[in-house]
Amino acid sequence: MTLFRNLKLMTAIDSEKGIGKDGGVPWDLPTDLAWLEESTSKTCDPCKRNAVIFGRRTYFSIPESDRPYKGRLNIVLSSSWTGEEQSSNDVVYVRNWTEIERTLEKFSSELESVWVLGGSAVYQHALQNDLIEEVRITEIQKLFSCDAFFPEIEWRSRFEAADERQMTENGVSYSMSRLLRK
Ligand SMILES: NC(=O)c1ccc[n+]([C@@H]2O[C@H](COP(=O)([O-])OP(=O)(O)OC[C@H]3O[C@@H](n4cnc5c(N)ncnc54)[C@H](OP(=O)(O)O)[C@@H]3O)[C@@H](O)[C@H]2O)c1
Repeated sequence: MTLFRNLKLMTAIDSEKGIGKDGGVPWDLPTDLAWLEESTSKTCDPCKRNAVIFGRRTYFSIPESDRPYKGRLNIVLSSSWTGEEQSSNDVVYVRNWTEIERTLEKFSSELESVWVLGGSAVYQHALQNDLIEEVRITEIQKLFSCDAFFPEIEWRSRFEAADERQMTENGVSYSMSRLLRK
């Protein structure tokens, strides 16, 4: 099986499956952020790195000082790239999922895991096409009136729970779960 058919997905959702508001994330949960950083950075093989896949809006919502994510191959999806964006060894700009597949093939010898980091349509495509082997999901027990949402598709029955942690931080309760493809 290729890397492209075994992606990992990471997300944080509120009580109505909201993922973002006004182009950002409307909660401040340091342990959840640390989990994202650790999950997407860590490799078993010290000679390899991971890749992270973002939609254009999510990538550019990251403060300029923090992007591209260090030590990882950043893949940014947009249908509107004009060719002026210079891809490098750290960031690759792609126009569609076929180009994502080609990019992963090109870098396959140096990659360990590939993380799909949103937003909505990116999650939807990956789950609908059964490209995901592992989901790491933070479920926040509070409503944040988001304007971007996790896709409304049934995916959980294809996964089984591996582990779950409960947290309370800044007065907000949430769970952090890992699910694996059955
Ligand atoms: N809570 C979380 O875990 C989480 C995770 C990610 C994002 N977020 C939040 O969610 C919001 C952003 O998400 P979003 O859904 O609005 O936007 P997004 O998915 O980050 O970006 C959307 C853009 O990505 C490009 N794109 C997506 N699918 C494509 C495809 N198949 N082919 C070509 N281009 C494609 C398109 O760019 P073009 O228009 O240029 O074609 C599209 O307009 C922000 O508030 C962010 O902070 C939260």
